[in-house]
Amino acid sequence: MSTEKSAQLTPLVIVGAGGFGREVLDVVEAVNAVQPTYDVLGFIDDGIDDVNLRRITARGLSHLGSVADHLDGPRAGTAYVIGIGGTATRRSLAARFDAAGAAAATLVHPSSTHGAGVSLGAGTVVCAGVRLTTNIVVGRHVHLNLNVTVGHDTTIGDHVSINPLASISGDCHLEDGVLVGVAGVVLNGLRVGADATVGGSACAVRDVAPGTTVVGVPAKPLPSR
Ligand SMILES: CC(C)(COP(=O)(O)OP(=O)(O)OC[C@H]1O[C@@H](n2cnc3c(N)ncnc32)[C@H](O)[C@@H]1OP(=O)(O)O)[C@@H](O)C(=O)NCCC(=O)NCCS
Repeated sequence: MSTEKSAQLTPLVIVGAGGFGREVLDVVEAVNAVQPTYDVLGFIDDGIDDVNLRRITARGLSHLGSVADHLDGPRAGTAYVIGIGGTATRRSLAARFDAAGAAAATLVHPSSTHGAGVSLGAGTVVCAGVRLTTNIVVGRHVHLNLNVTVGHDTTIGDHVSINPLASISGDCHLEDGVLVGVAGVVLNGLRVGADATVGGSACAVRDVAPGTTVVGVPAKPLPSR
């Protein structure tokens, strides 16, 4: 990329070089294909292994070092996005990057659709095929994975992960740190408490208490939890 062209782009680092980190790169590339926006400098990862190093190299990008190295270095204030699925990890990393004065990039795949009155917090990633209808508030550093649907008047807190094909009905409230597993369903009007997990393919038919894990149809708490 020419210097003149890259000067108009926002430099961006992706935190996490694992599977979702590279899926976040897919979103960036799709955004750039419509409107050149980001100059991805590379990945930051505390524990990258040889496999993922090869995978990011194949994408034409390099490992820029650990989080601590990055935040101690001259690029600490560079825009960032966290491509790590773990909600607690994302919460603590975001606090460190924010403290360093870095701006979180909000990434929206061009194939997603958004109705009227949808707001997305900084650092949120909306993957391909996501459907957000109307009057929806999404917090900071939320991951809406492939083909997720979110219905009307729903609120989603910070650091929430909603995995592929999950469906959140209208008038729901997902508090901070919630994980909804792949193909999970939350029926309309329900509240899922902070740091709760709705397991893959579960269907929540009642409110979910904070910090609990529910599985199955209808979803029930895991017996041992
Ligand atoms: C619910 C979940 C968080 C539980 O994980 P965990 O705490 O590690 O639980 P375990 O794997 O130890 O399983 C504990 C028990 O719950 C059962 N269980 C686990 N997940 C289940 C699910 N989604 N539905 C029904 N039962 C489930 C297991 O069979 C096991 O039962 P057992 O004790 O009778 O053998 C996890 O299984 C899950 O569904 N995660 C979502 C993953 C996802 O979305 N992946 C896509 C990434 S893009």
